[in-house]
Amino acid sequence: MKARNTSWLRFAVTSFCSMALVAVAKPASSQHADTIRQYQFEQAGSGYRLALKEVTRPTAGAGDVLVRVKAVSLNRRDFYMLNRDYNPDDGMAGGIPLSDGAGEVIAVGQNVTRFKVGDRVAGIFFESWIEGPPSAESLASDRGGNPGGMLSEVIVTHENGLVPIPQHLTYEEAATLPCAALTAWVGLFKRGRLEPGQFVLLEGTGGVSLFGLIFAAAAGAKPIITSSRDEKLERVKAFGAFGTANYRTNSDWQLEVRDLTGGHGVDQVLDVGGRDTLGKALEALAYGGHVALIGGLSGYGSDIPTDSLMWINATASGVYVGSREDFEAMNAFISEHQIHPHIDRVFEFGQAQEAFDYMQSGGFIGKIVIRL
Ligand SMILES: NC(=O)c1ccc[n+]([C@@H]2O[C@H](COP(=O)([O-])OP(=O)(O)OC[C@H]3O[C@@H](n4cnc5c(N)ncnc54)[C@H](OP(=O)(O)O)[C@@H]3O)[C@@H](O)[C@H]2O)c1
Repeated sequence: MKARNTSWLRFAVTSFCSMALVAVAKPASSQHADTIRQYQFEQAGSGYRLALKEVTRPTAGAGDVLVRVKAVSLNRRDFYMLNRDYNPDDGMAGGIPLSDGAGEVIAVGQNVTRFKVGDRVAGIFFESWIEGPPSAESLASDRGGNPGGMLSEVIVTHENGLVPIPQHLTYEEAATLPCAALTAWVGLFKRGRLEPGQFVLLEGTGGVSLFGLIFAAAAGAKPIITSSRDEKLERVKAFGAFGTANYRTNSDWQLEVRDLTGGHGVDQVLDVGGRDTLGKALEALAYGGHVALIGGLSGYGSDIPTDSLMWINATASGVYVGSREDFEAMNAFISEHQIHPHIDRVFEFGQAQEAFDYMQSGGFIGKIVIRL
């Protein structure tokens, strides 16, 4: 980050929602202390493109915190948004991309009690899902493609929309936690009640699955992970994989997975594949097992036959990220086990489109990060 004049602090009275665009050209860097650089979705054909804008620097109103974002990470959802495959009827033009980011508190508004200048924080995925069960309102407060997005040099958010990040993590590592990590953690521990020694099935080597692998291994479970590429299966062994299977070369991979458990079946599944994977994952499920319904990499809309769960006393639950309370519990687990997320590659702020292209290439495992 370039050194900045901090005279903007005296302007800390208005909200982010009222900020005005001051230029629409693609600036190489912000020219003034009272402006920041920020990406926005801009209409382009049937989808969007990433447009780098110079906008008025946000200020912190009462209860708000201003964060200098240091790193953000990509989730598949962000890629869907860019291509207008995610809630396509929600107009996202002008919205700020990316739900996940971490940074340093640089100013606090009146009555802020949870944070002070200098604190290291991450944004929570649902800005107003604090604890307990979700509601229509809390689930409508998801970040990304709106003013709550993180691909911005500075963001302003209510103090309730942040968590402190684990001390042993860099900003880049912490930026990977809000969506993928929390989804895996909720699926395994809150819903699945994972026990040491259990078999866990992870599908593919993307963000959610690699967190599932790392968390399961840390908890003393036996993670089995699939991939379309043998080279990736080799790489994931270093993260504690008990077993691996290639779903591309073996269309009956669920039988291979069951064999790896000695016929017992998997006690936990994080189903991120959806249409092509859920039925097979259910075939690999153990008595009393749990399936977390998370994703649709091969498409959504899979059915769960009643008897696939009933006759084996199994459960399935829908998981949509989690609350701030869940995030804090996950961070305690991450700190206790000194877990480091796996970052495949870090891009610079000006390379946001390259980061999305890299996601599209499928050549990564774990997380893709952009440094600001
Ligand atoms: N419900 C929620 O709260 C929640 C939260 C996060 C994500 N999601 C959803 O979960 C899914 C995964 O998200 P992500 O961010 O982890 O994705 P990601 O990081 O982009 O993962 C992509 C990887 O998944 C694997 N993959 C692709 N198609 C597959 C298939 N048909 N079967 C098995 N693996 C496949 C590939 O790994 P290999 O190259 O190793 O094959 C690919 O590289 C997405 O649908 C996303 O929208 C839901």
